[in-house]
Amino acid sequence: MTDTTARPRTDGGVVAPAGGAVGTARTRLEGRDKVTGAARYAADVPFDGLAHGWLVLSTVARGRITSMDTAAVLGMPGVLGVVHHGNAPRLHPAGLFGPDGQLQLLQDDRVPHVGRPVALVVARTPQQARAGAAALTVTYAQEPHDTVFRAGHPAGRPAPAAPARPDADLGDVEAEIAAAPVVVDQRYTTPEEHHSAMEPHASMARWEDGRLEVVDSNQGSFMVARVLATLFGLDQEIVRVRAEHVGGGFGSKGVGPQLVLAVMAATLLRRPVRVALTRRQVFSTTGLRPATEQRLRLASDSTGRLRAIDHATAAFTSTIQEYVERNTEASNVMYAADAIRTRTTVVPLDLPTPGWMRGPGAAAGSFALESAMDELAQAVGVDPVELRLRNEPSAGPVSGLPFSSRNLAACLREGARRFGWADRDPRPGTRREGRWLLGTGVACGSYGAGALPSTAAITARADGSYTVSVGAADIGTGARTALALVAADALGVPPESVRMRIADSRLGAAWFAGGSKGTASWSWAVTAAAADLRERLASVDRVPPDGVTGRGDTTDAIGALGKQERQSYGAQFAEVAVDTGTGEVRVRRMLGMFAAGRIVNPLTARSQLVGGMTMGLSMALHEEGARDEALGALVNSDFAGYHISAHADVPDIEADWVEDVDDSNPSGIKGVGEVGIAGTAAAIANAVWHATGVRHRALPVRLDRVLESGFPAAR
Ligand code: MOS
Repeated sequence: MTDTTARPRTDGGVVAPAGGAVGTARTRLEGRDKVTGAARYAADVPFDGLAHGWLVLSTVARGRITSMDTAAVLGMPGVLGVVHHGNAPRLHPAGLFGPDGQLQLLQDDRVPHVGRPVALVVARTPQQARAGAAALTVTYAQEPHDTVFRAGHPAGRPAPAAPARPDADLGDVEAEIAAAPVVVDQRYTTPEEHHSAMEPHASMARWEDGRLEVVDSNQGSFMVARVLATLFGLDQEIVRVRAEHVGGGFGSKGVGPQLVLAVMAATLLRRPVRVALTRRQVFSTTGLRPATEQRLRLASDSTGRLRAIDHATAAFTSTIQEYVERNTEASNVMYAADAIRTRTTVVPLDLPTPGWMRGPGAAAGSFALESAMDELAQAVGVDPVELRLRNEPSAGPVSGLPFSSRNLAACLREGARRFGWADRDPRPGTRREGRWLLGTGVACGSYGAGALPSTAAITARADGSYTVSVGAADIGTGARTALALVAADALGVPPESVRMRIADSRLGAAWFAGGSKGTASWSWAVTAAAADLRERLASVDRVPPDGVTGRGDTTDAIGALGKQERQSYGAQFAEVAVDTGTGEVRVRRMLGMFAAGRIVNPLTARSQLVGGMTMGLSMALHEEGARDEALGALVNSDFAGYHISAHADVPDIEADWVEDVDDSNPSGIKGVGEVGIAGTAAAIANAVWHATGVRHRALPVRLDRVLESGFPAAR
């Protein structure tokens, strides 16, 4: 591959290296299909004899099902069957990352939370299935439940260590804090949040000639097929899963409940069954980000040099699966300190199982760490950009490992220059514009980078075209297009001669669209396949009619990689206006400068970064799942009650990047999917402090919280 590190400009264009497709701005290959409606999503694909399944969800938070009146429903028009724990196929333990209790659907009479699927009504039309589901009477023996999270909950227990990152125990945190002249010791909370992909989860399953065919909305068809095969005790060879177009996932589209139930129904009824969730069902039963409570203690000398970082976090999980929200990652890598300690607690409650969501761990973790850094800057009397520069590490602060590349300081400096940070008056509450108080804030973020094992194949045809087959997923990110550019450069051909086949489990093993590692992982496999193909082509006079195929598998190469700290980094700047009458916070502008390795397609990479920053804004000011304590149920499970930043909330957002060369792997790609959300909420909360002089340590920064903080009356 040629060295095609993108050189950025702010207008979205890029100076392309001669002949290089990587680094040039390209619109999506499937863009026209999407805007004309030709692109089919999982619920759009027609099948002969298709039946429709409708979920029935539990209405109690804890207990047992004592009866289910299926007879009445089976007599309703069009109803073909009811799948429930009394007749559902038995499942084997399975999951994306080890056995997952969430997938053990309809296996017994236990109800672990409100919104757990307890039955699937299948009918000829969706309307008939919905009517049947509404009519199904389920009786429960209810038990007392507990759905109220707090860090000190007696059920809390230490989380198992992350595979690659045990709890940090560098130096003596208590001794450093006791001896330091400046200490910040604060608690920060973030609420339950919901992924809210535009396309609700949907799956179709059918048996054809002894093979299971699935059309799904997921983030990785190969991994989903593998889980399905294990779950149902099938040979993976007979399971085919496809997800050609996916309208967002944000971590929620692994193996969805609708898929497991569709396969069950197709198996029992011997006909194709589609299950499409409603928006409310998506909220109830497809995962969430858990609420967190984090305590941050920072100690520094009088110049702001950090002596200690002590980061303890707690988050809830369900009683059926232990999901750990890894909030302390950033505290391991962001700043040099003499002592660093991290601890993670999980609290099992009678709630749906949380899952990876939009920068899992980092989104909430960076809010706590980067808010505390702002508080330290205030306490020491050092500019918050300068404070971060003073604590820039030369190697992994805890691990001691070299950074594959970093360039966070460059992000801070270039961001500060473009944002006009030098003109900022450090005193809070000094800028007024009519009824508005104005303030600016900064925060940093990081997100794990790297690649995971994947395979790819490229077939050269006699007509000069190349077909790239890789089990990638494009969930709206632009992955399909990025991979075409990577393939074109690796083959030394124009992108127009490359055709992409993705999102089909038959295409072979591949990492999924998650952890911001999709494009890096698949690109490497595509590059390897291209190298293999070029070798094969060199040994033939002309391409035979059935083509020549090269293959790549990165498993060994990734296994042989040396240990390094691999992260994308960003520096985020925000300006807010706070209404002195209503307490409303409006974000006026945001700038994110990122160090994210090689940027493959500046057009879609910028979209992802802007998207991440928008999610951060949404987290800072809007998103909050509200639960009723007595019912244990989410009360705002729709977009009227659960507000996500809309156009009117989102100001001028600029995202750009500095040169960041990561030579530790051949793709040089670090991923842009999630780093945009890391630090954004802190930058906004820090700007609110600068505007008002009041610190907000609980997200979202709602207008009632601003008013009740004593602002502006207390000023
Ligand atoms: Mo993303 S939350 O890594 O699917």
